[in-house]
Amino acid sequence: MRKIAIFASGNGSNFEEIAKYKNKYYKVVLLICDKENAYVLDRAKRLNIPSVVVIPKNFSDKSNYETVILNYLIQYKVDFIVLAGYMRLIGHVLLSKYQNKIVNIHPSLLPAFKGLNAIEQAIHYGVKVTGVTIHYIDEGMDTGKIIAQKAVKIDEDMNLDKIKMKIQKVEHRLYKKVIEEIIRKEDDCEESISECI
Ligand code: GRF
Repeated sequence: MRKIAIFASGNGSNFEEIAKYKNKYYKVVLLICDKENAYVLDRAKRLNIPSVVVIPKNFSDKSNYETVILNYLIQYKVDFIVLAGYMRLIGHVLLSKYQNKIVNIHPSLLPAFKGLNAIEQAIHYGVKVTGVTIHYIDEGMDTGKIIAQKAVKIDEDMNLDKIKMKIQKVEHRLYKKVIEEIIRKEDDCEESISECI
Protein backbone atom coordinates (compact mmCIF):
# COMPACT_ATOMS: atom_id res chain seq x y z
CA MET A 1 0.00 0.00 0.00
CA ARG A 2 1.63 3.25 -1.14
CA LYS A 3 1.57 6.31 1.05
CA ILE A 4 0.48 9.42 -0.77
CA ALA A 5 0.85 13.09 0.10
CA ILE A 6 -1.48 15.52 -1.62
CA PHE A 7 -0.32 19.10 -2.20
CA ALA A 8 -3.14 21.64 -2.46
CA SER A 9 -3.58 25.40 -2.11
CA GLY A 10 -7.32 26.03 -2.11
CA ASN A 11 -10.71 24.39 -2.13
CA GLY A 12 -9.58 20.75 -2.12
CA SER A 13 -12.48 18.95 -3.78
CA ASN A 14 -10.01 16.68 -5.61
CA PHE A 15 -8.15 16.11 -2.34
CA GLU A 16 -11.37 14.92 -0.69
CA GLU A 17 -12.33 12.60 -3.56
CA ILE A 18 -8.91 10.94 -3.57
CA ALA A 19 -8.64 10.74 0.20
CA LYS A 20 -12.05 9.04 0.48
CA TYR A 21 -11.38 6.53 -2.28
CA LYS A 22 -11.02 3.07 -0.77
CA ASN A 23 -8.66 0.84 -2.71
CA LYS A 24 -5.83 -1.61 -2.10
CA TYR A 25 -3.03 0.33 -3.80
CA TYR A 26 -2.74 3.65 -1.97
CA LYS A 27 -3.72 5.68 1.04
CA VAL A 28 -3.51 9.44 1.58
CA VAL A 29 -1.40 10.00 4.69
CA LEU A 30 -0.62 13.72 4.50
CA LEU A 31 -1.80 17.05 3.13
CA ILE A 32 0.78 19.71 2.33
CA CYS A 33 -0.75 23.16 1.99
CA ASP A 34 0.94 26.50 1.21
CA LYS A 35 -1.93 28.75 2.38
CA GLU A 36 -2.96 29.30 5.99
CA ASN A 37 -6.72 29.59 5.47
CA ALA A 38 -7.30 27.21 2.59
CA TYR A 39 -10.58 25.28 2.78
CA VAL A 40 -8.71 22.05 2.00
CA LEU A 41 -7.36 22.18 5.58
CA ASP A 42 -10.93 21.87 6.95
CA ARG A 43 -11.54 18.90 4.69
CA ALA A 44 -8.37 17.18 5.96
CA LYS A 45 -9.40 17.76 9.55
CA ARG A 46 -12.83 16.30 8.88
CA LEU A 47 -11.29 13.25 7.24
CA ASN A 48 -8.70 12.85 9.99
CA ILE A 49 -5.78 13.26 7.63
CA PRO A 50 -2.72 15.04 9.05
CA SER A 51 -1.92 18.34 7.37
CA VAL A 52 0.97 20.77 7.47
CA VAL A 53 1.01 24.35 6.29
CA VAL A 54 4.35 25.48 4.87
CA ILE A 55 4.33 29.07 3.69
CA PRO A 56 6.84 29.90 0.96
CA LYS A 57 7.37 33.51 1.97
CA ASN A 58 8.84 32.36 5.29
CA PHE A 59 11.83 30.90 3.45
CA SER A 60 14.73 32.59 1.71
CA ASP A 61 14.40 30.41 -1.40
CA LYS A 62 12.54 27.50 -2.97
CA SER A 63 15.15 24.92 -1.96
CA ASN A 64 14.84 25.79 1.73
CA TYR A 65 11.06 25.74 1.43
CA GLU A 66 11.07 22.35 -0.27
CA THR A 67 13.62 20.90 2.16
CA VAL A 68 11.17 21.52 5.00
CA ILE A 69 8.43 19.81 2.98
CA LEU A 70 10.77 16.93 2.17
CA ASN A 71 11.40 16.35 5.87
CA TYR A 72 7.65 15.98 6.44
CA LEU A 73 7.42 13.58 3.51
CA ILE A 74 10.21 11.48 5.00
CA GLN A 75 8.58 11.57 8.44
CA TYR A 76 5.30 10.26 6.97
CA LYS A 77 7.12 7.77 4.71
CA VAL A 78 5.49 9.25 1.61
CA ASP A 79 6.33 7.48 -1.64
CA PHE A 80 4.06 9.25 -4.11
CA ILE A 81 2.97 12.90 -4.48
CA VAL A 82 -0.31 14.09 -5.97
CA LEU A 83 -0.75 17.77 -6.84
CA ALA A 84 -4.40 18.84 -6.72
CA GLY A 85 -4.82 22.56 -7.15
CA TYR A 86 -1.31 23.30 -5.84
CA MET A 87 -0.51 26.67 -7.28
CA ARG A 88 3.28 26.51 -7.61
CA LEU A 89 6.01 24.87 -9.61
CA ILE A 90 7.91 21.98 -8.05
CA GLY A 91 11.64 22.63 -7.67
CA HIS A 92 14.68 20.41 -7.89
CA VAL A 93 14.74 19.34 -4.23
CA LEU A 94 11.44 17.46 -4.58
CA LEU A 95 11.88 16.55 -8.23
CA SER A 96 15.16 14.79 -7.60
CA LYS A 97 13.83 12.80 -4.63
CA TYR A 98 10.51 11.91 -6.30
CA GLN A 99 11.45 11.24 -9.91
CA ASN A 100 8.37 10.08 -11.84
CA LYS A 101 6.47 9.99 -8.57
CA ILE A 102 4.71 13.35 -8.81
CA VAL A 103 1.51 13.81 -10.80
CA ASN A 104 -0.79 16.76 -11.46
CA ILE A 105 -4.26 17.38 -12.84
CA HIS A 106 -4.89 20.28 -15.20
CA PRO A 107 -8.30 21.47 -16.44
CA SER A 108 -7.59 21.49 -20.18
CA LEU A 109 -6.45 19.14 -22.90
CA LEU A 110 -2.71 19.84 -22.70
CA PRO A 111 -0.67 21.13 -24.41
CA ALA A 112 -3.50 23.61 -24.98
CA PHE A 113 -4.14 26.25 -22.31
CA LYS A 114 -1.26 25.75 -19.91
CA GLY A 115 -0.93 27.75 -16.71
CA LEU A 116 -3.48 29.73 -14.74
CA ASN A 117 -7.18 30.05 -15.60
CA ALA A 118 -7.10 27.25 -18.16
CA ILE A 119 -10.90 27.02 -18.35
CA GLU A 120 -11.28 30.76 -18.95
CA GLN A 121 -8.52 30.60 -21.58
CA ALA A 122 -10.37 27.81 -23.40
CA ILE A 123 -13.70 29.68 -23.34
CA HIS A 124 -12.04 32.87 -24.50
CA TYR A 125 -10.52 30.98 -27.42
CA GLY A 126 -13.96 29.63 -28.30
CA VAL A 127 -13.18 25.93 -28.25
CA LYS A 128 -16.10 23.49 -28.47
CA VAL A 129 -14.26 20.72 -26.68
CA THR A 130 -11.91 21.08 -23.73
CA GLY A 131 -11.08 18.58 -21.01
CA VAL A 132 -8.85 17.29 -18.27
CA THR A 133 -5.24 16.10 -18.33
CA ILE A 134 -3.33 14.09 -15.75
CA HIS A 135 0.43 14.28 -16.23
CA TYR A 136 3.77 13.71 -14.55
CA ILE A 137 5.52 16.74 -13.17
CA ASP A 138 8.79 18.04 -14.54
CA GLU A 139 10.48 21.40 -14.09
CA GLY A 140 8.17 23.18 -16.56
CA MET A 141 4.66 24.55 -16.23
CA ASP A 142 2.22 21.78 -17.27
CA THR A 143 4.82 20.23 -19.56
CA GLY A 144 5.37 16.75 -18.08
CA LYS A 145 4.53 13.47 -19.80
CA ILE A 146 0.79 12.98 -20.27
CA ILE A 147 -0.73 9.98 -18.47
CA ALA A 148 -4.46 10.35 -19.17
CA GLN A 149 -6.90 12.76 -20.81
CA LYS A 150 -10.64 13.07 -21.00
CA ALA A 151 -12.53 15.40 -23.30
CA VAL A 152 -15.37 17.62 -22.08
CA LYS A 153 -17.82 19.08 -24.58
CA ILE A 154 -18.83 22.72 -24.24
CA ASP A 155 -22.43 23.34 -25.26
CA GLU A 156 -23.69 26.70 -26.58
CA ASP A 157 -25.81 27.44 -23.50
CA MET A 158 -23.11 26.75 -20.88
CA ASN A 159 -21.71 29.58 -18.79
CA LEU A 160 -18.36 29.53 -16.97
CA ASP A 161 -19.81 28.00 -13.79
CA LYS A 162 -21.50 25.18 -15.67
CA ILE A 163 -18.34 24.36 -17.61
CA LYS A 164 -16.28 24.42 -14.42
CA MET A 165 -18.76 22.05 -12.75
CA LYS A 166 -18.69 19.66 -15.68
CA ILE A 167 -14.88 19.64 -15.71
CA GLN A 168 -14.63 19.10 -11.96
CA LYS A 169 -17.03 16.16 -12.13
CA VAL A 170 -14.74 14.55 -14.68
CA GLU A 171 -11.68 15.33 -12.53
CA HIS A 172 -13.27 13.72 -9.48
CA ARG A 173 -14.09 10.52 -11.37
CA LEU A 174 -10.80 10.30 -13.22
CA TYR A 175 -7.99 11.33 -10.86
CA LYS A 176 -8.41 8.71 -8.11
CA LYS A 177 -8.69 5.90 -10.69
CA VAL A 178 -5.70 7.04 -12.71
CA ILE A 179 -3.54 7.21 -9.57
CA GLU A 180 -4.69 3.69 -8.71
CA GLU A 181 -3.78 2.51 -12.19
CA ILE A 182 -0.30 4.11 -12.11
CA ILE A 183 0.50 2.44 -8.80
CA ARG A 184 -1.01 -0.89 -9.83
CA LYS A 185 1.20 -0.90 -12.92
CA GLU A 186 4.28 0.03 -10.88
CA ASP A 187 3.53 -2.81 -8.45
CA ASP A 188 3.03 -5.33 -11.27
CA CYS A 189 6.28 -4.21 -12.80
CA GLU A 190 8.19 -4.61 -9.54
CA GLU A 191 6.69 -8.06 -9.00
CA SER A 192 7.63 -9.27 -12.45
CA ILE A 193 11.19 -7.97 -12.02
CA SER A 194 11.64 -9.88 -8.75
CA GLU A 195 10.21 -13.03 -10.37
CA CYS A 196 12.93 -12.83 -13.00
CA ILE A 197 15.85 -12.51 -10.59
C1 GRF B 1 -8.78 21.70 -10.41
O1 GRF B 1 -9.67 22.18 -11.36
C2 GRF B 1 -7.50 21.26 -11.04
O2 GRF B 1 -7.64 20.88 -12.36
C3 GRF B 1 -6.62 22.48 -10.95
O3 GRF B 1 -7.00 23.12 -9.75
C4 GRF B 1 -8.34 22.80 -9.45
C5 GRF B 1 -8.39 22.37 -8.02
O4 GRF B 1 -9.70 22.21 -7.55
N1 GRF B 1 -5.23 22.09 -10.99
P1 GRF B 1 -9.96 21.65 -6.08
O5 GRF B 1 -9.17 22.53 -5.13
O6 GRF B 1 -9.51 20.24 -6.05
O7 GRF B 1 -11.43 21.79 -5.85
